[in-house]
Amino acid sequence: MPSLNINATPMSLTINGQTLETRLDPETPLLSFLRNDLALNGPKYGCGLGQCGSCTVLVDGQAARSCVIPLEGVQGRAITTLEGLGTLAEPHLIQQAFITEQAAQCGYCLNGMIMMTASLLARTLSPSEQEIRSELSSNFCRCGTHVEIIRAVKRAAQLMREAKHPQVGKHGT
Ligand code: FES
Ligand code: FES
Repeated sequence: MPSLNINATPMSLTINGQTLETRLDPETPLLSFLRNDLALNGPKYGCGLGQCGSCTVLVDGQAARSCVIPLEGVQGRAITTLEGLGTLAEPHLIQQAFITEQAAQCGYCLNGMIMMTASLLARTLSPSEQEIRSELSSNFCRCGTHVEIIRAVKRAAQLMREAKHPQVGKHGT
């Protein structure tokens, strides 16, 4: 359980566009802070060892495993969780694609898969299947939903290309 240290210098964190301060132990895992203190439950606790990917968030736009990142390591950096990507009412195109492809069974891995996809598509909107597989290879899905997940990533890339260049969708190129 993270401990509050009232003598500690407050740390400033920016999460989903909001800046806040905390006096928790600087070594508190980011995942604990997100889930226990902010009720941001998109990131999941899986292994707690940086191995399964279920706790993935974006740090300055890049995928990172929040279970092994201490709060002091993300001071002054922009953290985005699943909640910061889209909402139930206004899902991000990646979230829409995962819903359309029904790329989930239990859904426990989905946070990690979606955040990895966000990180990948920030680099390229035309990833090859090999690039998609490689990007997701260290994220575990115990339900075996990999085929649907890969389809969802491809659909997300297509949707985002169309959103960026509307003529792409119109002419199917
Ligand atoms: S819970 Fe963080 S990688 Fe498994
Ligand atoms: S859908 Fe259950 S772990 Fe991936």
